[in-house]
Amino acid sequence: MLKLLIIVGARPNFIKIAPLIEEINRVNKLKYLRTYPLKFCLVHTGQHYDYEMSQIFFQDLKIPKPDYNLGVGSGSHALQTAKIMEKLEPVILKEKPNLVIVVGDVNSTLAGALVAAKLRCSQLLITNYQLPLIAHIEAGLRSFDMTMPEEINRRLTDHISDLLFVTEPAGVKNLLNEGIHKEKIYLVGDIMIDALVKSKPKIQKSKILSKLNLKKKNYAVLTLHRPSNVDDKKILSNLISTFNEIQKKIKIIYPIHPRAKKQIKKFGFKTRLKKMKNFIITSPIGYIDMIKLVRGSKFLMTDSGGLQEETTFLKVPCLTLRETTERPITIEKGTNILCKRNKEKIIKEVKKILSGKEKKGQTIRLWDGKTTERIVRILGEKII
Ligand code: UD1
Repeated sequence: MLKLLIIVGARPNFIKIAPLIEEINRVNKLKYLRTYPLKFCLVHTGQHYDYEMSQIFFQDLKIPKPDYNLGVGSGSHALQTAKIMEKLEPVILKEKPNLVIVVGDVNSTLAGALVAAKLRCSQLLITNYQLPLIAHIEAGLRSFDMTMPEEINRRLTDHISDLLFVTEPAGVKNLLNEGIHKEKIYLVGDIMIDALVKSKPKIQKSKILSKLNLKKKNYAVLTLHRPSNVDDKKILSNLISTFNEIQKKIKIIYPIHPRAKKQIKKFGFKTRLKKMKNFIITSPIGYIDMIKLVRGSKFLMTDSGGLQEETTFLKVPCLTLRETTERPITIEKGTNILCKRNKEKIIKEVKKILSGKEKKGQTIRLWDGKTTERIVRILGEKII
């Protein structure tokens, strides 16, 4: 038996491990693998803990209840990372996995990989147990902006992992440029797209449009939660004035992240937002409803990573409100346009979309819903 320990903590992680678990369960039923079943143990660090940020994703995507919830909650980056590490080490020592799997670029990703890597250099000798390999899913992405917490998490995680599963060719190039050996690198495609493909029937049934009284292509969606956008009063104020202009032309739906909600209150922007009649703020929305909402929208404005990929797959125009993107293929081949936080640029692109001149994207190679199949096959080959 081969034991995998899968670590998740934040909203985007849950989406990525759902198809992975489904695939592990599928291959375990295959005859030829019966001698080597892949047993997995799921650890939730508790980085995200609100119902709308965590539990709803487990329900929507039928993810099994975690075997462990470390309950670390919020805190500074150092505190959150340290708490996860402290609570995770005894779990790894107890479970003795052959492989530790981390996904994405959140604090739980780095903390998980670091615990596993550090165990290797301890003097600890456990009878009949070889310390685990580390696999990083969604490796190699780089924004080249070291002020982003995610960029720190990505770089460090990649350099201590043994198996690097990459979503797009630029990721392979980045890893090679950083001196990572090519034998560790696997271009497998985007696991987020697997989640989407597998959830299609459920997405079709979502009633979110009628619930929010929306008509297809008559509204835009906004997601905004990055510290670089919501933690600075002037930047957030400029963005709000940009959204104010846009909502005069098209309704904007904004499912709000708790961090952004807190900052809006702190900076006293609530009354200003209330006056924007076509700017609708909702609670965070679960996975199935969110994809349905985005798919039906005229365009998306976002500072999220995953949604840049999902809109490219769905062929929905995407305006990214960040200075950089670590997902260049969505710009080169997809529907994404990097607008930075430039009011004129954002409004110009919105006008283009509204006059039917939106950017048309292409289909991306390996974003085909079969990424988890490729990953699990490689895992089987590498650890058997
Ligand atoms: C984290 C990830 C980010 C990802 C985002 C998705 C890191 C460094 N950042 O950012 O890459 O895009 O998740 O959502 O890991 N909060 C709640 N309830 C929750 C979770 C958070 O109220 O369930 C509030 C707390 O006030 C907390 C703040 O949101 O302090 C930020 O949470 P945190 O997990 O530190 O980072 P995110 O901004 O969510």
